[in-house]
Amino acid sequence: MKKIIAFAGTNSKTSINKQLVTYSASLLNEVDVTILDLNDFELPLYGVDFEKEHGIPQNAHIFLDLIKSSDGLMLSLAEHNGAYSTAFKNLFDWMSRIEGKTFFDKPMLLLATSPGGRGGESVLNIAKDRFPRHNANIVEIYSLPFFGNNFSNGKIVDDELNLQLKNAVKQFELSL
Ligand SMILES: Cc1cc2nc3c(=O)[nH]c(=O)nc-3n(C[C@H](O)[C@H](O)[C@H](O)COP(=O)(O)O)c2cc1C
Repeated sequence: MKKIIAFAGTNSKTSINKQLVTYSASLLNEVDVTILDLNDFELPLYGVDFEKEHGIPQNAHIFLDLIKSSDGLMLSLAEHNGAYSTAFKNLFDWMSRIEGKTFFDKPMLLLATSPGGRGGESVLNIAKDRFPRHNANIVEIYSLPFFGNNFSNGKIVDDELNLQLKNAVKQFELSL
């Protein structure tokens, strides 16, 4: 059976992106899913001086190994001031110091949601431009706007938005 990792690009313990990625992963059939949480991979703030003095922290190696040993990734990015959350950017920076091909050509379903109407569009645009330079194979991109209106009890309540996600998940599954 194919195995994927699914995680949100945030360290919020009540993350709406974690809720979205968890629901998205539940739509897969016959795939072994591991949901990860950035809070379980605490890392110091990246800095060149820190790296020179202490090297690269174990948690960056562990997370990168989890990507490497997976068959695919589902990632839902939180948007902070139009960009990655600090927690995600920090992990990404650390991992990129170990391996520039950070995503190892693994199929990726890239998601984002936010409380507002743009649904994380800015951070998705940044990731869409940047991730392929780190060997991401982005299969589908999906954005859920107005999380508070469109998501309830662990799932998307708007039929059209739900169908769009199901189609994206299906394409992702076919790519594994
Ligand atoms: C510092 C900060 C900046 C934010 N900037 C944006 C933003 O640029 N666009 C947006 O849609 N939401 C923004 N938000 C709201 C987040 O989308 C919201 O907090 C969301 O819950 C974050 O996702 P998460 O719950 O998965 O961490 C911001 C929130 C914080 C705390």
